[in-house]
Amino acid sequence: MSITIVTDSFSRTYPRTVTSSEGSIVLRLMGAEDAGAVLAFAQALPAHDLLFLPRDITQPKVMSAWVRAIERGDIDSVLAVRDEAVLGCAAVIRDPHSWSSHVAELRVLAAPELRGSGLGHKLAREACALAIERGAEKLVARMTVDQRGAIAVFQALGFKPEALLGKHVKDRQGLTHDLVVLSQDVARFEAQMRAYGMGEALGG
Ligand SMILES: CC(C)(COP(=O)(O)OP(=O)(O)OC[C@H]1O[C@@H](n2cnc3c(N)ncnc32)[C@H](O)[C@@H]1OP(=O)(O)O)[C@@H](O)C(=O)NCCC(=O)NCCS
Repeated sequence: MSITIVTDSFSRTYPRTVTSSEGSIVLRLMGAEDAGAVLAFAQALPAHDLLFLPRDITQPKVMSAWVRAIERGDIDSVLAVRDEAVLGCAAVIRDPHSWSSHVAELRVLAAPELRGSGLGHKLAREACALAIERGAEKLVARMTVDQRGAIAVFQALGFKPEALLGKHVKDRQGLTHDLVVLSQDVARFEAQMRAYGMGEALGG
């Protein structure tokens, strides 16, 4: 089944095939039926890759809560899949009832064997585009300061460091890590894109 999200500015169609230096990959929306495959993907990741997430998505009950949040419409999640194996995912998290209902948090994960292939960029762009379609006015992404790939991906999309939270995350060994929050103002971003004649920069 192909689902098209249509807004005044542009539309996104799922499933959709994109190419990275590692070949073609299908992007499609995540649903309840994907919980097992996403859990397997998460459980295969190095623990450090998951430090930016406040909840441990390697736990089945956390995955169930993720699926319920998708069904409620609080999270939009896109999977990168090939031959039914999950190779990456992007999520747009909003809290429509909070004082930050205009803010969307973007989360991106790529399989270690595909790092550097451009998949992370594609997923981050997809998350930005979905968040903007959902009406977000401000986008944020957080990661530990040593996640150089994540910082590179979001800075390439114009995100700037907005906050550094010292010793904010504690890993399973009890070691603390600093967290950086990058952000992007949607109106400024769209104005920049128009100025550069790149109104469809997030398309495709
Ligand atoms: C963030 C993540 C999705 C990026 O995936 P990816 O497929 O490697 O991303 P891309 O190949 O599109 O781009 C990676 C960029 O980071 C750069 N990069 C990767 N590792 C790097 C490092 N250790 N130091 C500096 N730059 C690095 C690459 O050079 C590339 O930049 P370029 O396009 O200018 O060459 C992936 O690293 C990941 O899953 N990390 C763990 C989870 C995480 O931190 N998520 C972000 C929180 S929102």
